[in-house]
Amino acid sequence: MCGIVGYIGHGDKKQVLIDGLRELEYRGYDSAGIAMMDESGITHYKAVGKLINLENKASEYSSNSYGVGIGHTRWATHGKPNEVNAHPHLGEYSFVVHNGIIENYQELKKELQDEGVRFLSQTDTEVIVHLFEKFNNQLDNPFQAFEQTIAKLRGAYATLLITKKDPETIYFAKNGSPMIAGKDDHGSVYFGSSDAALIGKAKEVTYLTDGDYGFARSGTIHLFHAGESMVPAMVPLKSDKIYAQKEGFRFFMEKEIYEQSSVISDTMLGRVLDDEIHFDEIPDGLFDGIREIKVCACGTSYHAALASSYLFERLSQIRASVEIASEFRYKEPLLRTDTLFVVISQSGETADTLEALKMAKLAGIKTLALCNVDNSSIVREADATILLRAGIEKGVASTKAFATQMMVLWMLALYLAKDKMTAEKYRFDLEAMRLIPGLAKVNERIHEKVKRLSKRYLHGHGFFFIGRDIFYPLALEGALKLKEISYLHAEGYPSGEMKHGPIALADSELFTIALMPQTLLYDKTKSNIEELSARDSTICAISPKSFELADDMIRTSEQKHPMCEFFEMMVILQLLSMEVAVRRGNDVDMPRNLAKSVTVE
Ligand code: G6P
Repeated sequence: MCGIVGYIGHGDKKQVLIDGLRELEYRGYDSAGIAMMDESGITHYKAVGKLINLENKASEYSSNSYGVGIGHTRWATHGKPNEVNAHPHLGEYSFVVHNGIIENYQELKKELQDEGVRFLSQTDTEVIVHLFEKFNNQLDNPFQAFEQTIAKLRGAYATLLITKKDPETIYFAKNGSPMIAGKDDHGSVYFGSSDAALIGKAKEVTYLTDGDYGFARSGTIHLFHAGESMVPAMVPLKSDKIYAQKEGFRFFMEKEIYEQSSVISDTMLGRVLDDEIHFDEIPDGLFDGIREIKVCACGTSYHAALASSYLFERLSQIRASVEIASEFRYKEPLLRTDTLFVVISQSGETADTLEALKMAKLAGIKTLALCNVDNSSIVREADATILLRAGIEKGVASTKAFATQMMVLWMLALYLAKDKMTAEKYRFDLEAMRLIPGLAKVNERIHEKVKRLSKRYLHGHGFFFIGRDIFYPLALEGALKLKEISYLHAEGYPSGEMKHGPIALADSELFTIALMPQTLLYDKTKSNIEELSARDSTICAISPKSFELADDMIRTSEQKHPMCEFFEMMVILQLLSMEVAVRRGNDVDMPRNLAKSVTVE
């Protein structure tokens, strides 16, 4: 979600910034901007769309005198992707770039507006530059003003600020969003959201940690943490760019699995509040008169849709139905105006989902999109959109997009349940939700175990992933992941349905991946798995409880809420499919015959 770069030195500032942004474009590309300052003053450029538009716009500019520069490539969270909302944001004499979300920006903005500050953009970022200038006007000390500014910010940020009041300096702060600072042998300093932006330029870097802030000037990085001056821990920078984009992971899919914890936190920011769920994006009246929710999607997004139908009925007590978009299009569906039509799509470009959405609009019913890509066709078409905030997903097998879809759907179900649940039950869900970023974190011990286990699951005549209730859609998703990247035959099935046919396939070469949460229908699921074990199927149980008939066991943690178990098991299934694919020597990120975004029927 957004990429930022910074540079201090004698080199061609514009080029250094653009080169860095090109490496970060995968983090967002709905607009980009740069600001450079040297002895002739500050110059800035912004452009909507891909980086090439910015390059063209700034083609006349060059400066090789000593100076500073900051740049940004944006993936919109607050405010439309237009030039005004593109970074850098400016005050009277300073510029700022930011990646992350300032959770309390509305209250800060209001305070500043009451004091007469005029805002130009709809972004959360702009408060940073105005706060800084307000404090600097009082203190006449840019460093102290910057310290006071960041002390006011809540939420996630990696931010760089330059100011005419201290023209050869970049101020920086990191909390919850990534930032790296580096140096070369010629007195230049570099900043970037990932080391990919610094490769070929900086010789050594420091990976800033949450709470770090400071300033860089004359080739030196002055680092502070909780008011104390620190010595930055510099390490040599690797020179392989693709390696850097993957941040040390073997595949984008692996990186994206490991990112889930932090993107889920981003998804929750400003939405999961102390005692309720809040969505800025839901317009007044969207749910007025709604008696049914129809959720429509394809692939992984369809599995999220199916899981949501359990949540809408159970928590929100609203009738919910689910449609595979390619089926829905031609079934001559009966659409009623008391139905809210919800589409889910990572890319926002899936042709079947887009057409289904158009049909709903044509029928005059209200529509809501859950989507990861702002300004995509689906977002433009829907009446309202909730963005997933998963950041760009590169692996064809969807992982973090599914995680954020599930999170938003659960939040939405709870949002609608406010007056339907007892206060106690509502709080139970809200508290469980706050545990998810922790539970979606990859447990290295489990990853190692899955790596070892994977060697036993490379052959056989098929896999059944089974579960009940919300764990049935999760089983479908586990099976889809395995199919997509390992090319092994796998099916997802409701545990209780195995006896109605599939059990005929059971023998030792049939692998059953059994989802056995302790918080939901444990005994029922257990009986179904015993039936399969009795027919000699090889069982891999994923459960917090030991199960004596399991051939293999992956132990999850003891939890109280089914969704907590859901997210923990989701990560295990993703790791399992990846490790099987690795052992089979497949291309994990670009599996055969598939595409990330399917824009044909
Ligand atoms: C393709 C992708 C899947 C994805 C599906 C729906 O098949 O390979 O990973 O789930 O499209 O895509 P969407 O972007 O609409 O979620």
